[in-house]
Amino acid sequence: MPQIKHGFKIPLMRPVVDEEMLQAALYSLQNEKLVMGESVFKFEEEFARYCGSRYAVSTGSGTAALQIALQSMQIGPNDEVVTTPFSFFATSNAVIHAGAQPRFADVEDNGFNLDPAKVEPRLTPKTRVIIPVHLYGQPARMNEFRDLAEDKEIIIVEDACQAHGAEYEGRRVGSLGHIACFSFYTSKNMTVCGDGGMIVTNDEDVADAARSFRDCGRASKYTMSRIGYTSRLNTVNAAIGRVQLRKLDTWNKTRRRVADLYRKALEGAPGIMLPPAETPKETPVYHLFVVRSTRRDQLAAHLEKNGVEAAIHYPVPIHLQTPYREKYGYSEGLFPIAERLAGQVLSLPIHPASTEEEVHTVSRLVRESTTE
Ligand SMILES: Cc1ncc(COP(=O)(O)O)c(C=O)c1O
Repeated sequence: MPQIKHGFKIPLMRPVVDEEMLQAALYSLQNEKLVMGESVFKFEEEFARYCGSRYAVSTGSGTAALQIALQSMQIGPNDEVVTTPFSFFATSNAVIHAGAQPRFADVEDNGFNLDPAKVEPRLTPKTRVIIPVHLYGQPARMNEFRDLAEDKEIIIVEDACQAHGAEYEGRRVGSLGHIACFSFYTSKNMTVCGDGGMIVTNDEDVADAARSFRDCGRASKYTMSRIGYTSRLNTVNAAIGRVQLRKLDTWNKTRRRVADLYRKALEGAPGIMLPPAETPKETPVYHLFVVRSTRRDQLAAHLEKNGVEAAIHYPVPIHLQTPYREKYGYSEGLFPIAERLAGQVLSLPIHPASTEEEVHTVSRLVRESTTE
């Protein structure tokens, strides 16, 4: 099977394209409508069932899923959405695309996710939504967000773009808020071998609105009920997604085993902080295995020099990105923990084909760098 080459001996991630996916793609291309073919609806049905939710609506990307989810709840101008500044910037871009105002709250001291205690003071009478992000595949503290939202008519939208299959208190992400959004971009725990996204909800009205928004705002073939987008998932991608979904749990199990190997190999490594330990309440899926180091840049350079691909997710918190500084006047110091993380985090290679030998090589190099 051809593998995508990155030029590294040990790549950060390795998308899977196997024979079964190729056959599914071929069958779909030869037998189905290329847009809105049967595989799209089957994939949606299977994905909703996987998450333990009633409806799933596929979209052209995770960003589109977030934007359409918000618009399907009639979130727009004059509404505020509280989220984390330490995420991929699509999370808050989607809020702006929907016409609403993002308001950031800082992240946890000992983790990577939005901190419920810091969200509370950021709530105003205009707050309609909180978007916790299950960053790196680590479930956010959903109970606390639900408690905050209760009585205030605030909606919880999960950004589960990095957390397919993660569980919180025995329930899969995607079923923990009012709506959840997923991305199938090629680096994710499961992909559609191209761009794609999914909105998951138990709310029938939201699902109906989302189906219309993603399909030009249609009410029927040539009538429309809203100003929509062309943001459908192509049939061939849905066909591949169905195959990947069946493999997701096995892949996630492997990721957890790889994370475990890293934990053992890196325990006590000087200057290295490991990601939060698993608890009986949370089952992470390690989209990324992220360590923290105050000498992060030297560590990254040492790994690169030795053929290991590491990456920084994310070197600049969203509020310090140029368009956000310009639009909202943000500056350094507003969200100190997010800013500190941006200078310390490093993602080590992890994917379903990671081997024990690779983990040991990477861990040895990490230790070597910290004792230099
Ligand atoms: C946390 C998070 N939110 C949103 C997105 C946006 O997804 P997409 O790239 O499919 O638009 C991504 C992924 O790239 C993500 O990681």
